[in-house]
Amino acid sequence: MTILVTGGAGFIGSNFIINWLAESDEPIVNLDKLTYAGNLDNLSSIKTNSQHIFIKGDIADEELIKQLLIKHQPRAIVNFAAESHVDRSIHGPEEFITTNIIGSFRLLEASRAYWNELNKDQQQAFRFLHVSTDEVYGSLEQNEAAFNENTRYAPNSPYSASKASSDHLVRSYFHTYGLPVLTTNCSNNYGAFQFPEKLIPLIIHNALELKPLPVYGDGLQIRDWLYVNDHCDAIKKVLESGTPGEVYNIGGLNEKTNIEIVNEVCKLLDELNPSQSPDHIKYNSLITYVKDRAGHDRRYSVDATKIQSELNWAPRETFESGLRKTVKWYLNNQSWVSNITSGNYLKWIEKQYN
Ligand code: NAD
Ligand code: TYD
Repeated sequence: MTILVTGGAGFIGSNFIINWLAESDEPIVNLDKLTYAGNLDNLSSIKTNSQHIFIKGDIADEELIKQLLIKHQPRAIVNFAAESHVDRSIHGPEEFITTNIIGSFRLLEASRAYWNELNKDQQQAFRFLHVSTDEVYGSLEQNEAAFNENTRYAPNSPYSASKASSDHLVRSYFHTYGLPVLTTNCSNNYGAFQFPEKLIPLIIHNALELKPLPVYGDGLQIRDWLYVNDHCDAIKKVLESGTPGEVYNIGGLNEKTNIEIVNEVCKLLDELNPSQSPDHIKYNSLITYVKDRAGHDRRYSVDATKIQSELNWAPRETFESGLRKTVKWYLNNQSWVSNITSGNYLKWIEKQYN
């Protein structure tokens, strides 16, 4: 038995693979294009594990996927591969259309061709799990009920629109062709190996360099934060016990404003790594309010009742323990950060914040 994971050199995919191989000896074929967000350093702890087979390639390369499927005969595909950063989708949406929509389509096509050739038992056991986001549901008002699996799609950024589009394609392959698909829509993740363009690692990185900590608009936008390992556990549960054709929302039951998040990160840094600046500044003195993101969603909140009651999943990490682990991880892995804060990353920071 084998599973094929796409985007396994990115933030969530690499955590998923490391966790999987810690608990199972079922091999994983990892297909990743290694864009700026893909980093084989994330997988260095399993470098010598022969159960991890890495292949550099694009989910939009249907021929390659077909060959991989025939060669490795996976019982499941877990699709993490995507362009994932909202701000980048605002500056340049095309990559999001190419990977998130066309790439997902080609992956579905290759999967369908492979699945059609399986015997009845194999067809029944096969799963195509598509990893998606709560952002497809759009933005909530302060007093509105959390997103559930029946909430109308109302994406507001090119990123969320491209993910919404891929979710619809995945759904259609179940209803039209009978492909046994599963979709998960998860809230904001945080944890080890997150690229420092996303809020939490960006704040840690800038604080350690005593650079401004950019907070968009009034900083009162709300996100529902989930520790990455809890997301990975949820995906595993859905893969093993989810009902084909169904959607499962995954959330942290943990709504916070962005300014609260930034202050909590600063407080942990003050404790774990007090500033060595001559005046021993507190890190939150670096907070700088900057121009708001275009089309910025005000609030996300996820109702995870379905996965909790049907699949018996609940987050294991509290926000306090998860954030502490995350800040410690970044402090202990500064070389990981400096390896990726390359020329390209610096160009992005200049474009986004100047
Ligand atoms: P990421 O940007 O860190 O990683 C994406 C990975 O996909 C990278 O390794 C990249 O090289 C690879 N990739 C990109 N285009 C590819 C292509 N065409 N072919 C093959 N590989 C390609 O993203 P992430 O934060 O790990 O997110 C993973 C998935 O989870 C995405 O689908 C995202 O929409 C979803 N998601 C993320 C969050 C979050 O908070 N990060 C929350 C909910 C859902
Ligand atoms: P981000 O980590 O980009 O995730 P997403 O846009 O998918 O929710 O951003 C999380 C929140 O933090 C979002 O409301 C935008 C805000 N934010 C800032 O205020 N400053 C920043 O520099 C970044 C990157 C994000």
